[in-house]
Amino acid sequence: MSPLIEVQSLRKHFGSVVAVDDISFAVDRGEVLGFLGPNGAGKSTTMKIITGYLPATDGRAAVCGHDIALQPIEAKRTMGYLPEGAPLYGDMTPTGFLDFIGRARRMPRAERKRRIAEVVERMELGEVLHRRIETLSKGFRRRVGLAQAILHDPDVLILDEPTDGLDPNQKHQVRELIKSMGDRKAIIISTHILEEVDAVCDRAIIIDHGKVVSDGTPAQLHARSPEHNAVMMRVPAGDAARTTQLLMGLPEVDRVEERARAQSSVLLMAVPKNGQFIGDLVAFTLRENNIAAADLHAEAGKLDDVFRKLTTIA
Ligand SMILES: Nc1ncnc2c1ncn2[C@@H]1O[C@H](COP(=O)(O)OP(=O)(O)OP(=O)(O)O)[C@@H](O)[C@H]1O
Ligand SMILES: [Mg+2]
Repeated sequence: MSPLIEVQSLRKHFGSVVAVDDISFAVDRGEVLGFLGPNGAGKSTTMKIITGYLPATDGRAAVCGHDIALQPIEAKRTMGYLPEGAPLYGDMTPTGFLDFIGRARRMPRAERKRRIAEVVERMELGEVLHRRIETLSKGFRRRVGLAQAILHDPDVLILDEPTDGLDPNQKHQVRELIKSMGDRKAIIISTHILEEVDAVCDRAIIIDHGKVVSDGTPAQLHARSPEHNAVMMRVPAGDAARTTQLLMGLPEVDRVEERARAQSSVLLMAVPKNGQFIGDLVAFTLRENNIAAADLHAEAGKLDDVFRKLTTIA
């Protein structure tokens, strides 16, 4: 089965600015792909090309087997798009707008009514249905934008920062919604919220200066953290120096850092060589030497650190 989204050697130049610089990837049905990257990395531009909003300078994007440049109507029929900032018609009401979108998508009247009722319920738009969109709060506008994107229940969803501006409850709800649709569709979301990658994505691509600098599962991303599998432990202050010396003597340990110091205890972090798991080894060593450690645990590795490592020049 061919992937629902295929992007090959995509490039986009705006004058001398290279916004997208040879990006390739594919997304299968059942996959939620996260786009991460600093401001100006090229996430939105890539999405705009896939959805046919902007032409590529070079390369190709295809959705459900339809090349967006050659078969734009067929390709657009199969996808829903929430653009950056969710532009909407301010003088329409959410009902009017959703009806307009349903008509533009040539949904028959009965189906249109049924689907509008469904998305209104899912996005909890009931209380604002008959207010002009320009008078709605940012979060509600975003929710109208999302409702519009999923109205025709497309196979492919391209959502540019779908949870931006939502309150915590709505963020949770939208993440649940994306996850629940993820099994049946191919979805790309862009986000600046790194926990969102763990919460909803099966895979994440980090883009920097228009290039893909990392492509893998959230677990693989965590594993690239300098602190992946580092062991944290709290030891009595009097044992701190001895603990450090003992752990530094292990060939598997790269270094031991003091992370915090209280009156009676010290928080130490033992960083392994090559990210290997050293939890059992550290626990054994401490026990053998009668060091009473508390809160001993291995770190998964922080996505923030991975993000910084990959997108900043040290
Ligand atoms: N229409 C345009 N004309 C000129 N330059 C543009 C245009 N659109 C985007 N750019 C430039 O292309 C680059 C990529 O922008 P893009 O909006 O894709 O970044 P992004 O990764 O979505 O960033 P953000 O996280 O801030 O949303 C930036 O340098 C931006 O200034
Ligand atoms: Mg953007």
